Amino acid sequence: MPTTNENSGASTGVGRRRLLQVSALGGLVAALGGASPAFARAPNALANVVILATGGTIAGSGASSTTTVGYTAATVGVDTLLNSVPELKKVANVRGEQVFQIASENMNNDYWLKLAKRVNTLLAQDDVDGIVITHGTDTIEETSYFLDLVVKSRKPVVVVGAMRPSTAISADGPINLYNATLVAGSEEGVGKGVLVVLNDQINAARDVTKSNTSTADTFRSPDLGMLGYVQGNKPYFYHVSARKNTADTEFDVSNLDNLPQVEIIYGYANMNRLALDAFVAAGAKGIVQAGVGDGSIAAQVKPGLTEARQKGVIIVRSSRVGSGIVARNGEANDDELDFVVSDTLNPQKARILLMLALTKTTDTKEIQRMFATY
Ligand code: SIN
Repeated sequence: MPTTNENSGASTGVGRRRLLQVSALGGLVAALGGASPAFARAPNALANVVILATGGTIAGSGASSTTTVGYTAATVGVDTLLNSVPELKKVANVRGEQVFQIASENMNNDYWLKLAKRVNTLLAQDDVDGIVITHGTDTIEETSYFLDLVVKSRKPVVVVGAMRPSTAISADGPINLYNATLVAGSEEGVGKGVLVVLNDQINAARDVTKSNTSTADTFRSPDLGMLGYVQGNKPYFYHVSARKNTADTEFDVSNLDNLPQVEIIYGYANMNRLALDAFVAAGAKGIVQAGVGDGSIAAQVKPGLTEARQKGVIIVRSSRVGSGIVARNGEANDDELDFVVSDTLNPQKARILLMLALTKTTDTKEIQRMFATY
């Protein structure tokens, strides 16, 4: 079935289920015309959720049940993962696919493009109502934000991980996977952008970040806050992100085989321009400055950034602080320098938006608009 009504939400699996509930009650089946048999199911039928496995600690195993550090990530396959949570079958018709199997520190642009294309292909199918992606927690915030910008559907996409390997006492993977599947198959999850679900909490991909190296409550959306909870087999939403995402973005990766090179330079006392110059010499098209404070630039680095801009490299001022807006024309005269500021995006997320922006334009005004939009 075509997905032409995506913007209304009515073409999503969940939206169609709602329509079918109406049709079952009111005899409006004929109005659905060419609705596929996959959706001609009972009003309370379970949602069809595809679980895409990519590795991480949720698929990790340790030497013993008390091994919660120093274990090996990405060892357990998707079928074992699904079979270890038989409760999933009660909340959705689940099927799994192993897209790749990595520890997420090895995430890269190629994996992102592969994953995004698979997600878009699946969500275009009428027999898929939502997607869960199992993922390592180290870069889950980056993958989630990338998908938030390039998934072309309002159907729920939920990214989930775990802080303890599957073999640990009180492993958090099973409950996280269960909650993620609930949200992915829920009406409440429709149109909320890509979601990150761990520790009974639902966060927006744009805002969430890992805040603690090892505790189960590591995921936070600093200042802006989480969107809701999963409790008692039900998602509860209290906020939505005001920033555009998924079906409302201008980015399309369907014909892309690679992404523009964008690198991050980190600000610190006694910083120098060595890394910056090396990145520019290596052909970087964009540089994100993880500046101190409000994106401040050290005096000895500023000429390097200015020269890079003169060579055509796009410079984005972000901050290493972890929350807050980087003020345009605050700690640097961005208008004069022709720099862009990252709004509230942390450096690793600013890198993602800049890569995607560079697939569309090199106009800094346009890129600044994108940072104010997404
Ligand atoms: C990883 O990111 O793959 C390892 C760490 C984790 O999943 O918690």
